[in-house]
Amino acid sequence: MVRNAREHFLTRIGGQASDPERGAKVMFNFGSDIGIDLGTASVLVYVRGRGIVLREPSVVAINRDTGKVIAIGEEARRMLGRTPGNIVATRPLRDGVIADYDVTEKMLRHFMQKADGRRLFFRPRVMVCIPSGVTGVEERAVRQAAIQAGARQAHLIEEPLAAALGAGLDISEPSGTMVVDIGGGTTDVAVLSLGGIVCSRSLRVGGDKFDEAIVRYVRREFNLMIGERTGEELKVAIGTAYPQATPERSMQIRGRDLVSGLPRAVTVTSSQVYEAIKEQLEAVVGAVKEVLERTPPELSADIVNKGIVMTGGGALLAGMDALLSKETGLPVFVADDPMSCVALGTGRALGMIRVLPAPKTRKLFRRVV
Ligand SMILES: Nc1ncnc2c1ncn2[C@@H]1O[C@H](COP(=O)(O)OP(=O)(O)O)[C@@H](O)[C@H]1O
Ligand SMILES: [Mg+2]
Repeated sequence: MVRNAREHFLTRIGGQASDPERGAKVMFNFGSDIGIDLGTASVLVYVRGRGIVLREPSVVAINRDTGKVIAIGEEARRMLGRTPGNIVATRPLRDGVIADYDVTEKMLRHFMQKADGRRLFFRPRVMVCIPSGVTGVEERAVRQAAIQAGARQAHLIEEPLAAALGAGLDISEPSGTMVVDIGGGTTDVAVLSLGGIVCSRSLRVGGDKFDEAIVRYVRREFNLMIGERTGEELKVAIGTAYPQATPERSMQIRGRDLVSGLPRAVTVTSSQVYEAIKEQLEAVVGAVKEVLERTPPELSADIVNKGIVMTGGGALLAGMDALLSKETGLPVFVADDPMSCVALGTGRALGMIRVLPAPKTRKLFRRVV
């Protein structure tokens, strides 16, 4: 099982082992290395030597009449829910699958060019982390899109591996590590050992589902219509996954009264946000428990010692670590800067590919990823 997962991964990102051009590339390594976290909520771009240079929402605004892209990233996000009839602002990866391939490609190309500017002249080597729900066909499409956008080589890396690398974990050892990444569209739970995924689960529940649940709750309890962005603001500002361990706060929000149709303000508390997202939190906990149940005993023992590491924006929800810890009885750690882990991990993986040529380091590379 471990071997298969590792080999699977090696063929996916290490498929360049017999690249005949490699010698030349190492000698004339003009091009930069770019790592891309193609997330469901945000895209981060890492450039070797410069760190994370771009961080923008994965949103694209399109004119429905002409099919033309009007805005990408932050500018497009401001249009979400505020567009006239002929313009749609969409999130092409929203639920962890590529809903619209053309739009995804345009977005990828836009961010690559924006991050690297003129340097794309020297075609970069690109490592893309894609949501785990993406299928084989879509994987090829992403790889192709990266090449078309100017990449000299395009590699894909699985999300849990990138997250673990970015969190600074040593995943090369024959020792179990558990990573839980809560993103916008999905939650990814995986146990890693020897640079491979031993068992994992991807759940279509992430921050977006929390936001939607808050919107529904406010409509039900206050007869007030609010948008998903307001739902997200409530979650980030006062939300809690474990009210016993976090301070009770409250926040005033505005929306449209369902009865009168007029704007109205209400005050929402942390415990109410908790009530709203309880079911979604249970789903996340359930996925973690399920993976723990499927983990081979030796690796379970390692996880008992090392604990669970959380990454992704959802890890920042107050009390999330306390909830997981209480439910599993294991220590839980939130990675430093959890929203950057995957992007940093793509950078580390690129570094490993770079050292490939020397036989000695190739061995290391094989072990690590
Ligand atoms: N402080 C916070 N508390 C709770 N949720 C947060 C916080 N900051 C960001 N998030 C949520 O994290 C999600 C985005 O996480 P991210 O890891 O960037 O997703 P993805 O990798 O899918 O693009 C969003 O749903 C956002 O609302
Ligand atoms: Mg992510």
